[in-house]
Amino acid sequence: MCERYKGQKIKIRRLSLRDYDKMVEIWRSSGLPFKPKGRESKASMKKQIEATPDLLLGAEENDELIGVIIASTEGRKGWLNRIAVVPEKRGKGIAKALTVKAEQALRKRGIKIIGLLVHKSNTPSINLAKSLGYTPNPEILYLTKRESDDA
Ligand SMILES: CC(C)(COP(=O)(O)OP(=O)(O)OC[C@H]1O[C@@H](n2cnc3c(N)ncnc32)[C@H](O)[C@@H]1OP(=O)(O)O)[C@@H](O)C(=O)NCCC(=O)NCCS
Repeated sequence: MCERYKGQKIKIRRLSLRDYDKMVEIWRSSGLPFKPKGRESKASMKKQIEATPDLLLGAEENDELIGVIIASTEGRKGWLNRIAVVPEKRGKGIAKALTVKAEQALRKRGIKIIGLLVHKSNTPSINLAKSLGYTPNPEILYLTKRESDDA
């Protein structure tokens, strides 16, 4: 389905494994850290696409992928991950459109709380989240335990 975001004709669609190389290119050109040997390896993306095809979305303009978002859920909460838009297409509402579609897909799964982790210095992402009604909780510390740095 095509919709217009700030005058552009954009299609939001599900991602497939055929999009993998382009997805990686978008993350790279966005300077977004990702885990090519871990959660964002081709094998891992294949598993995620098969398990939750509704939660991995891309924005396409003229048949070219220009933005991606990977939502996820373990059943309790929903998460928005790795959202990125190619630098030359930013500021046109594409990230907002991707986020709204991902939220809709999570809600269809019965998810009532959606969160995202953002680096404190990432003002565009923080503003994006705030513009869509997300509120920060400065009291929460993010703690992780990792099998390896690649995970
Ligand atoms: C964050 C990112 C995805 C935003 O993409 P985008 O398509 O330009 O965002 P949108 O045009 O949909 O903007 C939505 C809102 O985000 C905020 N925003 C976007 N870019 C901004 C910027 N450069 N500075 C401040 N706020 C910004 C605004 O509040 C905007 O709402 P408004 O247009 O109503 O003012 C994009 O900057 C990006 O790919 N960054 C690199 C990857 C990254 O850091 N991803 C997030 C990981 S958590």
